[in-house]
Amino acid sequence: MNEKTSGSDYILEMENVSVDFPVKGFTAFLKRQKISAVSDVSLRIEKGQTFGVVGESGCGKSTLANTMIGMVKPTAGRVTFKGKNLFELDRKSFKKTRRDMQMIFQDPFSSLNPRFNVHDIISEPLLIRGDATEEEMKARVVELLELVGLSKDDIDRHPSDFSGGQQQRIAIARSIILNPDFLVCDEPVSALDVSVHAQILNLLTEIQEKLGLTYVFISHNLAVVKNICDRMVVMYLGKVMEGGSAKAIFDNPRHPYTLALLTAVLDTDVDKEKEEIILEGDIPSPIDPPQGCRFWQRCPHAMEGCKNVPVPEVEIERDHYVACHHVNGFPDTDLPEGYDRPVKTEEAERKDKSHPLKTEESVESKTDA
Ligand SMILES: Nc1ncnc2c1ncn2[C@@H]1O[C@H](COP(=O)(O)OP(=O)(O)OP(=O)(O)O)[C@@H](O)[C@H]1O
Ligand code: SF4
Ligand SMILES: [Mg+2]
Repeated sequence: MNEKTSGSDYILEMENVSVDFPVKGFTAFLKRQKISAVSDVSLRIEKGQTFGVVGESGCGKSTLANTMIGMVKPTAGRVTFKGKNLFELDRKSFKKTRRDMQMIFQDPFSSLNPRFNVHDIISEPLLIRGDATEEEMKARVVELLELVGLSKDDIDRHPSDFSGGQQQRIAIARSIILNPDFLVCDEPVSALDVSVHAQILNLLTEIQEKLGLTYVFISHNLAVVKNICDRMVVMYLGKVMEGGSAKAIFDNPRHPYTLALLTAVLDTDVDKEKEEIILEGDIPSPIDPPQGCRFWQRCPHAMEGCKNVPVPEVEIERDHYVACHHVNGFPDTDLPEGYDRPVKTEEAERKDKSHPLKTEESVESKTDA
């Protein structure tokens, strides 16, 4: 979402953020290789909202989240939290700011120290901050246990005494003990039994309402994202393919990748009448990806040039951005100066006739716009 970022309603803003990881060794031409985990991502997150990040495994969701909370330094770009550039803060200010940003992980058991009891796990951040007495810490732990649906009698037990869902409740209690404003939930239910998914999601929603938290919600599960997210991005191989209001994206998905993800989810009502789009091939390597569209190898509508021509993000409707050269989605006037639209091959033209986005209505409405 390459919109201009400013304004106090945004708790976190990313501007043209890229993260490259070095790869050992060189190519045949002695060029150093790198993994492009996140590339040129711009987004902004409103206070009190839930921001979704979706995409297949390895597309850069966790790297993006770790960059948001300052755990991974971007190779390029800027991350602003509450108006301050996170990577320009001195050590003391960074430490203080980090207390306002917390994270919960996919696998609660590995995020909890098995040798600690519940009291010590939950109160550890408070102990490290060093400004609470023993009694205050205990009282706060009891308060949080009740908030997350556990009992004060659980305080001396160890993580292995609990089910996965209960362990995630402990992890949630720990994550909010310092009263953060911003919580990243990295696949918070995907390692748990399906029967407890709804309970944990409801708990997160209740806590958000009570404490006024802002969430970043990372998930493979589009149905969940649809239910709980206000705004979102769909990522593929480190790039944002589509972003903006979750309602706009689910009501009117425009990117071929989003559409493939949505038509694969049979229990959403997004594409009841549309056939499932099966993407061929695997996700390509993020090592030195193409300059143009990173989705071109798997896109059923790739055009000559999609591989090489950079794809701008275009706002196709209010708060709905798409990065695709697909001709029906974008009238010529929408392309920024300096970008030539790729030319369609005969093969692409043939495939395009069956493109689920190509309805007379959509072509007309875009052309009239
Ligand atoms: N510390 C690291 N060093 C080198 N490469 C990394 C590092 N962290 C992530 N990567 C690579 O960056 C890419 C993005 O990884 P990331 O973990 O962000 O993806 P993800 O979308 O969270 O995947 P998943 O859904 O499996 O959790 C992957 O190719 C991954 O191998
Ligand atoms: S049509 Fe081209 S730009 Fe659009 S998703 Fe397919 S390969 Fe990418
Ligand atoms: Mg991840």
